[in-house]
Amino acid sequence: MSSFTITRLHAREILDSRGRPTVWAECRLAGGFTAAASVPSGASTGRAEAIELRDGDAQRYRGLGCRRAVENVSVTLHEGLRGRAFASQAELDGELMRLDGTPNCRRLGANAILAVSLAFARACAVQHGVPLYRHFADIAGLRLCTLPRLTVNLFSGGKHAGEQSPLQDILLTPVAAQTTDEALAAVFAVYQAAAELVWKKYGQRLLRADEGGLAPLFPDAESMLADAIEAITAAGHAAGIGVALALDVASSHFFHEGCYHLGRETLDSAAMIARIDDWVTCYPLVSVEDGLSEEDWAHWPALRARLAGRTLTLGDDFLCTQPARIERAIATRAADALLLKVNQVGTLTGAAQAAALARAAGWKITVSARSGETEDNWLADLAVGWGADFIKVGSITQSERLAKYNRLLVIEAETDLPLCPLAVSSR
Ligand code: PGA
Ligand code: ZN
Repeated sequence: MSSFTITRLHAREILDSRGRPTVWAECRLAGGFTAAASVPSGASTGRAEAIELRDGDAQRYRGLGCRRAVENVSVTLHEGLRGRAFASQAELDGELMRLDGTPNCRRLGANAILAVSLAFARACAVQHGVPLYRHFADIAGLRLCTLPRLTVNLFSGGKHAGEQSPLQDILLTPVAAQTTDEALAAVFAVYQAAAELVWKKYGQRLLRADEGGLAPLFPDAESMLADAIEAITAAGHAAGIGVALALDVASSHFFHEGCYHLGRETLDSAAMIARIDDWVTCYPLVSVEDGLSEEDWAHWPALRARLAGRTLTLGDDFLCTQPARIERAIATRAADALLLKVNQVGTLTGAAQAAALARAAGWKITVSARSGETEDNWLADLAVGWGADFIKVGSITQSERLAKYNRLLVIEAETDLPLCPLAVSSR
C-alpha cells in the first residue's frame, strides 16, 4: 500500500468571487508531487456549519481577512505534519481534526483545514498519476458510473440578491439532455430567453446576483417560478419534459419566531408545507431545497411525506453536511436528498461520511458550490468521483462558475460516462 509523506504545506490569502478573502493552500509530498486547492465561502450559511476563521480586523476587508487561517496552514499545520506519512485521506483528515481539537474546526478554521485536505487529495492524485475524479472515487471506495445532472441558477433572490425576492434560487435542470454538452446548450437558450423576459417585463438590463442569476424585482415567489416556465417555453423547450426546475427556498433566512415570512405573507409551518405542495403541483420541480427552516425539525417529516415520489426533499442548511444531522434526518424520515458542501463539515473525509450515510439510506445527492467561489474546479471532480445525482454550481456566467462546467466537459470527453438517470419524474 502506498503512503503519502507531506514535506511542505504552504498557504496564501486569495480573493473569492465576491472579492472577499479566502484560503489557497499548496501541499508537497515526498518525491516532489505538489498540488494546490482553494476553498469557497457561503453567504446563506447554516448554523451548524464548520467555522471559517476570519481575522476580525475591521480595518481590513471588514474583518473578513484570512491571514490567521493562512498562518495556521503555513506554520501550525506545516510544522505539525511535515515529514509525516499518511496511508489515506481519512488518516490525514483525522490528524487535521485532532490538531484542531474542536468538533467544528473553530481553532484552526474550516477554511485552513479544508484547503489542506483538498490540496493533499490533489497531490495524492498526482503521486498516483490518476485524474482527480478517479482519486475521489478511490477515496470513497466507489466506481465511476455516471456524471451529475446540472441544476443551474436562473433567477436569484434571498441573501444572494439583496433579499428583494424571497426564494433564493430558481434553477434549471435540462432533463431531456443526454450529455453535459447538450445540457449547457439548453441552459444557455433558456438563460437568454429569461434575460429578454426580464427586460420586457421588469425593464431591467442584465444585472446579476452573486451566483450569476438574474434578479429583477419579482412581485412574489410564484412569479419567479412562472417566469422561469415562460423562459423555458420561449427558448423552445417543453417545460418539465425538456427542461425542468429545481428550487432552493433557503427558508431559514425568512423564518422568525416560528413563522415563515414569505414576501408579504406570514405562514406557519403547515401553511408553508401546503404552499410548497402547491408549487410542486403547478411546476415541474425535481427538488425542493430547504423548504423549511434548519431548526424546524418537527415539520420536516411532514414535508417529506407530502413530497415523496413527486420531488426530492433536499436539505442544505438543514443538514449542513453533518453526519449527526443526516443520521437524525434519516431516522425521522425528514428528507430524502443531501446537498453536499464540503466546507460545511471541514474535511473531505467528513463529507465522504455524510455522502455514504445519505447513499445507504437511498437518498439522492447534490454536490454544491458556494455563493463565494474561486476559479478552482475540484468540485466537478468531486461530483463525478462521488457519483452525485446533481451538481449545483450557480449560473452559466462568471468564470468561477464556468470553471466547474468546463471541467465537467473535459471529464465527459475523457470518460464518456452517461448522465445520472433522473431520480424523480419531474412531471
Ligand atoms: P451559500 O448558499 O451562500 O451559503 O453558498 C448557497 C445555497 O444556499 O445553496
Ligand atoms: Zn441552499
